[in-house]
Amino acid sequence: MTKRGFFVSFEGGDGCGKTTQMRLLLERLRADGKDVLETAEPGGTPIGRQIRRILLDSANEALSPRAEMLLYFACRAQNVDEWIRPALAAGRVVVSDRFTDSTLAYQGEGRGLTAGLVRELHGIACQEILPDLTIYLDIDYRTGLSRARARNAGQEGPDESRMESQAEEFHDRVRQGYLALAAAEPKRIRTIDAGQSVEAVAAAIWAEVEPYV
Ligand code: TMP
Repeated sequence: MTKRGFFVSFEGGDGCGKTTQMRLLLERLRADGKDVLETAEPGGTPIGRQIRRILLDSANEALSPRAEMLLYFACRAQNVDEWIRPALAAGRVVVSDRFTDSTLAYQGEGRGLTAGLVRELHGIACQEILPDLTIYLDIDYRTGLSRARARNAGQEGPDESRMESQAEEFHDRVRQGYLALAAAEPKRIRTIDAGQSVEAVAAAIWAEVEPYV
């Protein structure tokens, strides 16, 4: 392992408040003078952003579960090769909005493609790259979904509602998937109650991140 930097990912169901919390953490790290790479899955790199459009466009109803999973991993492989591995090798702090735990929860549990298959593809796409710390923002899936749907309805720009349009049962399975992942890896995956105030959630996140940076 040549890795020297620190890699933290944010996870959670739709509408869990990840974007706000990630912004607050980035501000704090940068104010502390840390050299930070901010990235996202799906998205991040310019090529990843093109893949994101395909994945989240609600017009792509016909996207098959395996094709969907492979596109998420194609996006991640590009992110790992182009941005994440070089940043870690240079000793930077990498903060990613989602990573492979999302695929385990959404495609593995949500779509029923199994954790074994997802982990096999992770090995191909990401090789040894895994977050050192994962912040899982836990929220009741109904509360999260209504927030996410309200946000998308009022949003300009490209349609990004394909995943949020999935049935409630799908989102319930995703949450159960996350809870099982967090129970299996409690040291890496830190669960934070996202139903608290923005300030309380931010403080809980900082308490997890600070010892590492
Ligand atoms: P977000 O960037 O707004 O969080 O939206 C990304 C959506 O894609 C969200 O519904 C979660 C979903 N997703 C997966 O289904 N699998 C994945 O591997 C990733 C990274 C995201």
